[in-house]
Amino acid sequence: MSDKQSKSFQFPKWLNTIRPQLALGALIGPVYLVVLIYYAWSPQTTMVGYQPPQPVEYSHALHAGELGIDCLYCHYTVTEGAHAAIPPTEVCMNCHASIHTESPKLLKVRESYATGLPIPWVRVHDLPAFVQFDHSAHVTRGVGCESCHGRVDKMEVVWQDEKLSMGWCLECHRNPEVNLRPPEFATAMGWAPNEDPEVFGARFAAENNLNPREDCSTCHY
Ligand code: HEC
Ligand code: HEC
Ligand code: HEC
Ligand code: HEC
Ligand code: HEC
Repeated sequence: MSDKQSKSFQFPKWLNTIRPQLALGALIGPVYLVVLIYYAWSPQTTMVGYQPPQPVEYSHALHAGELGIDCLYCHYTVTEGAHAAIPPTEVCMNCHASIHTESPKLLKVRESYATGLPIPWVRVHDLPAFVQFDHSAHVTRGVGCESCHGRVDKMEVVWQDEKLSMGWCLECHRNPEVNLRPPEFATAMGWAPNEDPEVFGARFAAENNLNPREDCSTCHY
C-alpha cells in the first residue's frame, strides 16, 4: 500500500477523543446481539412441542382424561396464586396406597413417599425471570387452562403447546374474546359456548369489566 493510499484511510483527529466509547460500542454491540438472538430463540419462544421425559410414567391422558380427575385436584393453587402447584407425592398416594400397589411403574412414587424426597419432575413451561405471570389472574377471570396449555387431557406426556412469547401474551391481551369462558369451566376441556364465541366473549368481557393491560409494567418488574 502506498503512502498516499494509507493516508486517505486515516480517521480524522477528533475521532481519537471518542475512541474509548467506539471500542466499547464495538465490544458491547455483538454481545447485545447475541443476547437478543439468545432470547429470541430461547425454548420459550421456539420450542412449541417441548416435551421432556419425566421420571415417572404419569399420564394426564389417563388421570385427567379417562379417569376424569379435575385439574384442581392436583394443581390446587392455580385459582389463588401466581403458580400452579405440582402435586406432592402424598396426592398420588391418596389413590396409589391402594391402587396398583405393586406396580413397577409406581416404584419411584413409593420411594419418594417413603423417603420424603420429592419426585424430580422436569419443568416443561418456564418463562424468563424478568416476566411476571399470574395463573389466578387468568383462571378466575375466564381464561381456561386449555387456551394456554392445549388438550392436556389427551397428553400421555405433557408438552408446551403455545409459544409463550411476548407477542403471544399480547395477542390475547388485545383480543381476548374468543378465549373467554365462565370461570367455573376454567378446567373443562373442549368447552365452547353455544353461540358465536366472538359474540359470547364480547358480552362476557363487558359484563365482567375485563380489560387485560398492555403496559410494560403489567408483565415486567
Ligand atoms: C392426578 C394429578 C394431576 C391431575 C389431575 C392433573 N395434573 Fe397436571 N401435572 C401433574 C404432575 C405430577 C405434573 C408434573 C409431571 C408432568 O409434567 O407430567 C403435571 C404437569 C402439568 C403441566 C406441566 C407443568 C410444567 O412443568 O410446566 C401442565 C401444563 C399441567 N400439568 C396441566 C394440567 C391440566 C390442564 C390438568 C387438567 C386437565 C391437569 N394438569 C391435571 C399432576 C396432575
Ligand atoms: C384419584 C385417584 C388417583 C390419583 C390421585 C392418582 N392416580 Fe395414578 N392411577 C389411578 C388409577 C385408577 C390408575 C389405574 C388405571 C388402570 O389401570 O386402568 C392409575 C394408574 C397410574 C399409573 C400406571 C400404573 C400401572 O402399573 O399401569 C401411574 C404410573 C400413575 N397412576 C401415577 C400417578 C402419579 C405419579 C400420581 C400423582 C401425581 C397419581 N398417579 C395420582 C388413580 C389415581
Ligand atoms: C393465560 C395462559 C395460561 C392459563 C390460562 C393457564 N396457564 Fe399454566 N402456565 C402458563 C405459563 C405462561 C406458565 C409458565 C409460568 C412461568 O414460567 O412462570 C404456566 C405454568 C404452569 C404449570 C407449571 C408450574 C408453574 O406455575 O409454573 C402448571 C402445572 C400449569 N401451568 C397448570 C395450569 C392449569 C391446571 C391451568 C388451568 C387451571 C393453567 N395452567 C392455566 C400459562 C397459562
Ligand atoms: C388467552 C388469553 C391470554 C393470554 C394468552 C395471556 N393473558 Fe394475561 N390476561 C388475560 C385476561 C383475560 C386477563 C384478565 C384481565 C382483567 O382482569 O381485566 C389477563 C390478566 C393478566 C395479568 C393481570 C394484570 C391485568 O392485566 O389485569 C397479568 C400480569 C397477565 N395477564 C400477564 C400475562 C402474561 C405474562 C402472559 C404471557 C405469558 C399472558 N398474560 C397471556 C388473557 C390472557
Ligand atoms: C402481557 C405481558 C407482556 C407485556 C404487557 C409486555 N411484555 Fe415484554 N415480554 C413478555 C414475555 C412473556 C417475554 C418473554 C418472551 C420470551 O421468553 O421470549 C417478554 C420479553 C421482553 C423482552 C426481552 C426480549 C424478547 O423479546 O424476548 C423485552 C426487551 C421486553 N419484553 C420489553 C417489553 C416492553 C418495553 C414492554 C412495554 C411496551 C413489554 N415488554 C410489555 C411479556 C410482556
